[in-house]
Amino acid sequence: MSRVLVLNGPNLRRLGVREPDVYGARSFEDLTAVCRDAGRRLDLQVDVRQTDDEAEMIAWVHEAADARLPIVLNPAAFTHYSYALKDALAQRTAPLIEVHISNPAGREEFRHNSVVASVATGTIAGFGFMSYVLALQAIAELLAEQ
Ligand code: DQA
Repeated sequence: MSRVLVLNGPNLRRLGVREPDVYGARSFEDLTAVCRDAGRRLDLQVDVRQTDDEAEMIAWVHEAADARLPIVLNPAAFTHYSYALKDALAQRTAPLIEVHISNPAGREEFRHNSVVASVATGTIAGFGFMSYVLALQAIAELLAEQ
C-alpha cells in the first residue's frame, strides 16, 4: 500500500472554531477521518499532520523527498509568502497536490498569489474537505500511471 503525507499548515488545527463561515463547522479530527476514509477506498496509507511551525513543515517535506512520498499539502498562510517552503517543495521526488478548503482566488488580494503553486503537480481549491478527497484521488491515479 502506498503511503501519502497529508500536511496542513498554520491554524488548520482550529477548524470548526476558526471562521466557520469560511472553513465550515467540522473539526480537524473530522478532516483527518475524511482523509483516512478516502485513503481506505483508494488503497492509500494516509498520514495526516498539522503544524503551525514553518521549520517543522519543512522537515516533513524533506522527509517526503527522501522517502519518495507523495504529498497533499494545505500550506495555509504559508501559501502566500513562504519561499523557504517553496524551496523545500522544489526538491520533491513524488507528486505534490496543493489544496485549499476555501477558494483563495475569490478572497482578499493577498490570497490570490501562491508562491508554492509553480512547484506543485496541481492545485485543488474551493471544495471544502472534498478538496483533500479529490487530491487523494489524483495521487492514486498518478501512482497507478507510474
Ligand atoms: C487556506 C487558505 C489560505 O489563504 C489561508 O491562509 C488558510 C487556509 C484554505 O484552506 O482555504 O489558512 O489554505
